[in-house]
Amino acid sequence: MLIIRCHNGRRILPRRVRGMCGIAACVLRNGEVGPVLYDCLKRLEYRGYDSVGEASIIDGKIVVKKDKGKIDQVEEKLGISDLAGVVGIGHTRWATHGAPSQENAHPHTDCKNTVAVVHNGIIENFMRLRQELELKGHQFNSRTDTEVVAHLVEECLGSGKSFAEAVRLTSKKLTGAYALALISSLEPDKVVCVRNESPLVVGRGTDSNYCASDIPAFLSRTNQVIFLEDDEMAVLTADKVRLLHISDGEELTREPVTIDWNAETALKTGYRHFMLKEIHEQPMTVRNALRTHPIYLDLMASAMNRAKRIFLVACGTSYHACLAATYAFSNLAKFAVTPAVASEFIDTYGALVDSDSVVLAVSQSGETADTLSAVRGAKERGATVLGISNVMGSTLTRISDVYIGQNSGPEMGVAATKTFTAQLSVLVKIVVALARKREVLRSADLEALQNGFNRLPGWISIVLSTQEERVKRIVEKYSDRSSFCFLGRGIGVATALEGRLKLLELSYLPAIAYAAGESKHGFISVVEEGYPVIFIAPRDETYSKMIGNTMEMKARGAQIISIVDDQDGEVSGLSDETVTVPPGIPSMLTPIVFVVPLQLFAYYMAVGKGYDPDFPRNLAKSVTVH
Ligand code: AGP
Repeated sequence: MLIIRCHNGRRILPRRVRGMCGIAACVLRNGEVGPVLYDCLKRLEYRGYDSVGEASIIDGKIVVKKDKGKIDQVEEKLGISDLAGVVGIGHTRWATHGAPSQENAHPHTDCKNTVAVVHNGIIENFMRLRQELELKGHQFNSRTDTEVVAHLVEECLGSGKSFAEAVRLTSKKLTGAYALALISSLEPDKVVCVRNESPLVVGRGTDSNYCASDIPAFLSRTNQVIFLEDDEMAVLTADKVRLLHISDGEELTREPVTIDWNAETALKTGYRHFMLKEIHEQPMTVRNALRTHPIYLDLMASAMNRAKRIFLVACGTSYHACLAATYAFSNLAKFAVTPAVASEFIDTYGALVDSDSVVLAVSQSGETADTLSAVRGAKERGATVLGISNVMGSTLTRISDVYIGQNSGPEMGVAATKTFTAQLSVLVKIVVALARKREVLRSADLEALQNGFNRLPGWISIVLSTQEERVKRIVEKYSDRSSFCFLGRGIGVATALEGRLKLLELSYLPAIAYAAGESKHGFISVVEEGYPVIFIAPRDETYSKMIGNTMEMKARGAQIISIVDDQDGEVSGLSDETVTVPPGIPSMLTPIVFVVPLQLFAYYMAVGKGYDPDFPRNLAKSVTVH
């Protein structure tokens, strides 16, 4: 249990901090920022390691050290820990806009080198802002969304605004998720930082102050933490922290809270395992995936709309995302696509792949050997290759003609969780773009989907906050079982397969998964008194048949554990245990919510059996062999 004590000893339930890149900043009374920022960034490296950079003010000038690569590689090359100065900002990157490169590494500066900025998040309207600034003569050095901030602040400073005010006015022009930290040579004694949706915390020191994406960054220097809310900013000097509202500039006061975490707990931000942390990150990572820029979705939809055949190719959990998306392609875009396990793709469909084919490959790591060789085989046959990956700069993103970074941040747990729900979110977004291009999506369906997309993060949060204890209890009750079977219908088959894979790879139990209708043609012979069958039963077009399947299993003595919505009556009435999700989820989005209780089920079963859910035996996070 996480304990945070306010300075008067009162216990406070912590707000979890989440997100992608790692930003850090500090203002010191004494000493040099280089070693401090280096240490902060090392503690944030699990958030992103494509490129690293620091900036400080030396002799009234902004000095930047940044390059592509991991912290230690850049340290060796540039000696970032030697950076002088008492004010500084730092960044470790997880690329979203602009591939990993020295130019795209943070910090970014303005034309006059009077402002430097580091950023975590996505600035959705950056393209329009950039065009406006370029028309005013601003020169850009990178392809990032972030650089617009430095030039916008430059504009405000140019009109006589103070540094803090320039940052506040700039922030009001931005849309999207952003945590920013900035320095300016015009006011060299302070750091200004801003939070809107992306995480940012302030660390109150005795003769120094800090801000960072996550508490671990500065926990070795201070455990006095001020949590910033959305639409808030802080102005840090060596002995003062000023808090302001961005919208109206009003001053705020907030007491720091005391964090009593050790280093290990800190890396997992209080969770026992990375997997549990990543399961709880899904409201944020799904929101990020849904923020994929329409330009990329349109590029993919156009390529697909020209194709005679579309193949969705992947392995493991990524394949299950493709399988689920297949239902969306046919039901929403009225387009038949072929999902294929990558290791079987060329042998099965190689003869059909040609220049009229599109192969959409999905891989969180972007390095899975089977997926890459399927893609190379498709390329050799003239196909257009599209890619969805969580690792910008990975081989898949380099081979693909068009790719989308799903922006889930590093996934440390071997078992894919947040990357599954993010992949499927991007895939359904692509399907909607294709359906609109083909003019086959009824406006009512489009509206329901748009509404569904907006409510997805909230629905997942509800499941996490209301069902975790119930899942734990069910696991305790069924922890002695030697096998489980997951049954689903329609798009629920993909959810069942994913639930089974999670349990199998983490608890080493020989779990089974089936299309519920198919279970009558074999699996049912396994069912005996007390055999646990897990039903994934959204109230969609398959529901009435699901009731029949539940009764069939019950009649043979099975113990029914069902995942249903909280308005459900019939399947839950037949069940021994139920785990509920909110009602009203569009059927093509159900796997993104219904899978969460199954992820928790597998996690607690593994922990209950004393296994390490982060590093299950015989598995690797990225399988780079055939
Ligand atoms: C899933 O939990 C496993 N880690 C594994 O099945 C994984 O999904 C598969 O190896 C594919 O990995 P990729 O998405 O990185 O290509």
